[in-house]
Amino acid sequence: MQGLSSAVRREPPVSPADAEIAPAVLAWYDRRRRSLPWRAPPGARPDPYVVWLSEIMLQQTRVEAVKPYFETFLRRWPDVAALAAAPIEAVMRQWAGLGYYSRARSLHACARAIVAEHGGSFPASEAALRALPGIGRYTAAAIAAIAFGQKAAAVDGNVERILARLDVLEVPLPAAKPLLAQKAARLVPDARPGDFAQAMMDLGATICTPQRPACGICPLRAFCGAAAQVRPEAWPRKPPRAERPHRRGAAFVLRRGDAVLLRTRPSQGLLGGMTEFPSTFGTDSYDPLTALHAAPLVADYRRLPQSVAHVFTHFSLSLDVFVADVESEAPAGCRWVRDSDLETEALPSLMRKVAVAVRSSGW
Ligand code: ADE
Repeated sequence: MQGLSSAVRREPPVSPADAEIAPAVLAWYDRRRRSLPWRAPPGARPDPYVVWLSEIMLQQTRVEAVKPYFETFLRRWPDVAALAAAPIEAVMRQWAGLGYYSRARSLHACARAIVAEHGGSFPASEAALRALPGIGRYTAAAIAAIAFGQKAAAVDGNVERILARLDVLEVPLPAAKPLLAQKAARLVPDARPGDFAQAMMDLGATICTPQRPACGICPLRAFCGAAAQVRPEAWPRKPPRAERPHRRGAAFVLRRGDAVLLRTRPSQGLLGGMTEFPSTFGTDSYDPLTALHAAPLVADYRRLPQSVAHVFTHFSLSLDVFVADVESEAPAGCRWVRDSDLETEALPSLMRKVAVAVRSSGW
């Protein structure tokens, strides 16, 4: 008897009946759903264009950052045909500041593919959605579930966190991903799969947060192994995070009268297709002593006392800013843009910071 009871105590917490999870999450969602500009009212089927646009914008990006961009895009391009007809440069400009710029390029390519290959209507199946530019596994499932009521499991980092905690899963990420995807697929209900997807997103964003989860008010508390632990935030298990490398770089702000020198970055790679002050960064080889070798024009440069700091996903950056007045023609690949037209350029946040640093230096 003794042996048996200690064996029972060593068992991991009992996994809940999967069937009870969706009703509990949906009942909570009916009371607590967030009101978000891309969400249809309860019971209504949302426009697939709206769902797609919001899901692309929400990849790696906070809800609060997305809201104003979403609203401007929808006002300017109210349907997929309007977006497909827009020049790519206009889309890049409108996206400026939201980050991960390859999304804007894919967004535009996807709109064109939907018009060219699907008669302007989004396909409803996950497989057909996944074949479109910029739509991966998560986004295809989210659109299929939310816009088309398909029984698809939309599994992002938030959902993985909830599921790993429910089962106090000891397998660390990313190895746990297939297990978590299987668990997610088991939980999706036949009825209201789109609401279930959105309910899980809300639960991950507001209650089952990465740090300090609010287990006391969680609708899944009764089913959750981690909620019974001292540190529920210790799940999902993760390998120690590699430190983000730090890099240095230089930006050259050249002025001719009331114009500044700009150029467009190559369409592929970091900040692809966006506008910049001619710059060199993102490589390991930057040497501040020889920075001026990379300047677009020979000039009498002054370096601003403060560098500009920025954090990308894979590295942090401090950018030395060199300024100079010149009278020259624009070198190949560059153009003079009047200060008053700067707002119409696709300037990413990093370059906006450079503009602010220059302005506040009094130069
Ligand atoms: N994150 C990703 N997709 C989302 C959505 N549709 N609503 C809220 N947060 C999200």
